[in-house]
Amino acid sequence: MSIMSAQRMGLRCLSLDPAADSPASQIANSVPGDLTDSDKVAEIFRQCEFITLENEFIPSEIITSAMKEAGRDESCLTPGAPTLGMIQDKLVQRECYERAGVPSPRAVEAHLGSEMLGFPHVLKARFGGYDGKGTRTVKTQAGSDALRETWESAPWLAEGFVPFQRELAVMVCRSRTETWCFPTMETVQTNHVCDLVFPSGIDASEVALRAVEAVQGFGLFGVELFETATGEIIVNEIAPRPHNSGHFSLDWGGVSQFEQHVRLTLGLPLSRIVGQECCMANLLGIGEPGSFEQGIRAAVDSVPHCQVHWYGKSEAKVGRKVGHINVAGRDCVALAQRARNAFWEGFRLG
Ligand SMILES: Nc1ncnc2c1ncn2[C@@H]1O[C@H](COP(=O)(O)OP(=O)(O)O)[C@@H](O)[C@H]1O
Ligand SMILES: [Mg+2]
Repeated sequence: MSIMSAQRMGLRCLSLDPAADSPASQIANSVPGDLTDSDKVAEIFRQCEFITLENEFIPSEIITSAMKEAGRDESCLTPGAPTLGMIQDKLVQRECYERAGVPSPRAVEAHLGSEMLGFPHVLKARFGGYDGKGTRTVKTQAGSDALRETWESAPWLAEGFVPFQRELAVMVCRSRTETWCFPTMETVQTNHVCDLVFPSGIDASEVALRAVEAVQGFGLFGVELFETATGEIIVNEIAPRPHNSGHFSLDWGGVSQFEQHVRLTLGLPLSRIVGQECCMANLLGIGEPGSFEQGIRAAVDSVPHCQVHWYGKSEAKVGRKVGHINVAGRDCVALAQRARNAFWEGFRLG
């Protein structure tokens, strides 16, 4: 989706892509290769004037060494490698918030969790977690012991459990000269996977921006937040890239997170952020055969102004993000869910 925005601005794109038939490779040139292959990363640095990321899985050390190997300096990369390094290790990320006085759960190495935090607490993989893979809540010592093999076999952290009322997210755009935030959205996760995103009715951008500043971040960031029953805003984590909670902006009538991402990467002025109320419902794979064409037809029959995005992933594993539906305007939350239900009914029939 970032590539599509870049292409609309007349740019040519090249991606590093583990699979030859991935969504990115379908629409632009790609270097096939593993995300941890330093030579392949260096190839991107050699061929491209500006470089950015759409996930946080290339270790920052590999990025730094590849950049050097290609004879490039930091100025071509957004966000910068030091910021990526601070975000990629969830324990270091927490330490950055603590140092900067940004509200966030207390975190320690996993083996200290029971003693220092008590129960319940949350165990997390320090590196590479996403969509809840690498997040476990433990309520008792027995629960912690049952997971011992997991948290001893790799670097894990333990952090305080936050009894949140709801989860929020803010997309922050920060360049050296200007900062803008998209509206604060409420996000609903099902089985740790983002399911529904809609306007929260509050503005949590101040805390979100402080989190980005705590990791010296410049670029586009998705800041995930908890709101407690007393209205306190606590930082969960930062994604240094476009984020699921910003997908609504493709169809809200204003600038999208992807266009802002491209602008930040190229050092172009940002667009002002204004648009309509909009709700996004994720399409999570159902692990059954079906027809996305029939799904799209059924969704549009049900809610004529819905916008269906189907990513063209080669596999639609259960629970995997395979597309999303946006509905802007009045009653968007109910209508987006109605369109999604219609989509899956049509998909199955097809
Ligand atoms: N400290 C916490 N307290 C309560 N729930 C949490 C905590 N940390 C994470 N969660 C829940 O687990 C989900 C996934 O955790 P997160 O740290 O965001 O990992 P991921 O990288 O998989 O998104 C969160 O969206 C939230 O629902
Ligand atoms: Mg998360």
